[in-house]
Amino acid sequence: MATGLTSLPFLVTLYFIHKIPLMLAQNDQFIYNGFHQANLHLDGTARIHPNGLLQLTNNSEKQLGYAFYELPLKFNTSSGLTQSLSFSTNFVFAILSETPSKGGHGIAFTISPSWKFTNVVASNYLGLLNASNNGLSTNHLLAIELDTIEGQEFQDIDNNHVGINVNSMKSIESAPATYFSDQERKNISLELASGNPMHLWIDYNETEKLLKVTLAPTSIPKPNRPLLSTHINLSQILLESMFVGFSAATGTVTSDHYILGWSFNKSGEAQSLDVSKLPQPPQQRKSKDKRGQIIMILIIVVVVVLILVTGAIFILRRKKYAEMLEDWENEYGPHRFSYKNLYKATKGFSNKELLGEGGFGKVYKGTLRSSNIQIAVKKVSHDSKQGMKEFVAEIISMGRLRHRNLVQLLGYCRRNGELLLVYDYMPNRSLDKFLYGNEKPNLNWLQRFQILKGVASGLLYLHEEWEQVVLHRDVKASNVLLDAELNGRLGDFGLARLCDHGANPQTTNVAGTVGYLAPELNRTGRATTCTDVFAFGAFMLEVACGRRPIEIQCLPAEMILVDYVFQCWRKGAILDASDPRLEGSYVKEEMELVLKLGLFCSQSMPAARPSMRQVMQFLDADADLPELPHDDACFGTSTNSEAYGLSLFPSSSMGSAPSMFSTDSILRSGR
Ligand SMILES: *[C@@H]1O[C@H](CO)[C@@H](O)[C@H](O)[C@H]1NC(C)=O
Ligand SMILES: *[C@@H]1O[C@H](CO)[C@@H](O)[C@H](O)[C@H]1NC(C)=O
Ligand SMILES: *[C@@H]1O[C@H](CO)[C@@H](O)[C@H](O)[C@H]1NC(C)=O
Ligand SMILES: *[C@@H]1O[C@H](CO)[C@@H](O)[C@H](O)[C@H]1NC(C)=O
Ligand SMILES: *[C@@H]1O[C@H](CO)[C@@H](O)[C@H](O)[C@H]1NC(C)=O
Ligand SMILES: *[C@@H]1O[C@H](CO)[C@@H](O)[C@H](O)[C@H]1NC(C)=O
Ligand SMILES: *[C@@H]1O[C@H](CO)[C@@H](O)[C@H](O)[C@H]1NC(C)=O
Repeated sequence: MATGLTSLPFLVTLYFIHKIPLMLAQNDQFIYNGFHQANLHLDGTARIHPNGLLQLTNNSEKQLGYAFYELPLKFNTSSGLTQSLSFSTNFVFAILSETPSKGGHGIAFTISPSWKFTNVVASNYLGLLNASNNGLSTNHLLAIELDTIEGQEFQDIDNNHVGINVNSMKSIESAPATYFSDQERKNISLELASGNPMHLWIDYNETEKLLKVTLAPTSIPKPNRPLLSTHINLSQILLESMFVGFSAATGTVTSDHYILGWSFNKSGEAQSLDVSKLPQPPQQRKSKDKRGQIIMILIIVVVVVLILVTGAIFILRRKKYAEMLEDWENEYGPHRFSYKNLYKATKGFSNKELLGEGGFGKVYKGTLRSSNIQIAVKKVSHDSKQGMKEFVAEIISMGRLRHRNLVQLLGYCRRNGELLLVYDYMPNRSLDKFLYGNEKPNLNWLQRFQILKGVASGLLYLHEEWEQVVLHRDVKASNVLLDAELNGRLGDFGLARLCDHGANPQTTNVAGTVGYLAPELNRTGRATTCTDVFAFGAFMLEVACGRRPIEIQCLPAEMILVDYVFQCWRKGAILDASDPRLEGSYVKEEMELVLKLGLFCSQSMPAARPSMRQVMQFLDADADLPELPHDDACFGTSTNSEAYGLSLFPSSSMGSAPSMFSTDSILRSGR
């Protein structure tokens, strides 16, 4: 102690002049906040990092790492100095393991006769002893172990303990890694292999023969209560010249063992390390690093894949729901349905929703999600853009048609190659299903007559009661739809023009359905209100007789309904033509009226046919039907119609028949 004291002033001077803060030259005391300029003897895997961090082992298996103060220290001196056995030390360590709480094997603060360790075993011997010298008093070894493995052969208490070892790997005293919190007045557990820096104090008082070991996290000062406190007579253990330092070892389980700083004093209590000055161990466990990297990579991959997939889905959806929208359509905004909504409404135009397949395309049933309104969507294929603008304009105009005997057009949507028309849904489908379908309950005469009157008033509305003349062009039973109350409603008006579409407007194709086509259509190709009336006549006969206008399967020759009804009429037995399924239950006057009116409308000469207004008057019995001509050449699609060929522009014999001049348009303005 005397020597230590005499040299102190000199050393203090030296300290200030040379500013060697970390190391005091005197043998028995030093403080290293990091090991940049430390007088250490390193062995095994031990090395000092550029930041001053002392690494004893890396996490390879069966590693040994030693770091001892270079110079021997005097303990148990023969000179009989008092307090020569006392010492005080503290250090900060960090143990990083692959998996939390599965580190191996640990660090030992060691006081040993030599820093050379030969024939020793790593792992549970911590590089200090081997099986044959374990426990021998000749070892002169004191070790404070920070043990992260529960070694059965040394009766370790657990895999996370602090122990005092004398000449043996079996601790004379040990305790789980905890510290006593002065504030909370209780023991708090620590995990040695957590990777967090921890502070360990070891103090031996020769007078009391008391060895105290105190553990704490670096965040708090030294706790008042030590973790271990053992009476031990070190004079029986230590030799005069001893080395102090650290040993660490790995086994099949591994850890990185680090010492961050070390303070040692044989002359008094060692100053506690200033944690803020210490080098930092690697922040995260290697395993966490690796796992973290893998997780990061996985996350990135997943994110990239997600982005790609959502991108692809987005593009596909855009393609799936792609529609054609041109500037001129902006004004039709309210009538424009989005393809996406129609797609969803019809469950992707699924076959289950298919209502039917007509001349222009398939019709699907749908339910608009937003309003829960039932709709029918007609998919009409169209190829050319040409004329589309005009056509859509007409469609929109027709959307403004309002009549209880017309199927309401709600709007449209355009896609590449497709036009979608949205209509009110008609729960009872089309009339022809009732007339010819076997499974449907048959319609009685009252219902049929109501339907005929309804359709007539619908057609009259189209022809005369709206702001423009609308030609239907395809009146027939399958275009008459029945609503929930079995009211007949005309559908598909104007659509026949689609057939003309793209063709030379001078020579428009004949649109319509065989059997309902007025004879003059063959010559002129022009649809007029008169051609609609002709078709309506065929339709009336169809409803009254329950037969199609032309039944090809009828042997021996095709059966032409007009001719048949005409024959019956000429025989004076027109009621013979009535639908046998009615079994005679009908109002005879009405049946006769309908059949005669059907013939009347079916006259070959356009001008001879009544207008729809007149048809209504006849049906309502507001006017009497004139005599029918007795010449069968006057009826139906008779090829004899050349006789009337010169009567293309007749002075209308029926009075108010609208002009026969028809443009290519469905609509005709200038009424
Ligand atoms: C650990 O240190 C040894 C010796 O320096 C070396 O051979 C080994 O590759 C190191 N292992 C790792 C995981 O860095
Ligand atoms: C130190 O302790 C040993 C017992 O282990 C004893 O024999 C010896 O006399 C003591 N003194 C010195 C200077 O070794
Ligand atoms: C144990 O260590 C001692 C001292 O170094 C040596 O003499 C002995 O041979 C070693 N025993 C084994 C089994 O390695
Ligand atoms: C705290 O730990 C020490 C050492 O293991 C033990 O002696 C003491 O009884 C414990 N105190 C409490 C309050 O658990
Ligand atoms: C050792 O303990 C004695 C008695 O408690 C005390 O007087 C002495 O100062 C202590 N020595 C050291 C180095 O702490
Ligand atoms: C400690 O050991 C020394 C040497 O063996 C002995 O002289 C001394 O009496 C012992 N002291 C106590 C308190 O046991
Ligand atoms: C050692 O203890 C002495 C006496 O208490 C003190 O003056 C000195 O600063 C201490 N040195 C270290 C490095 O702890």
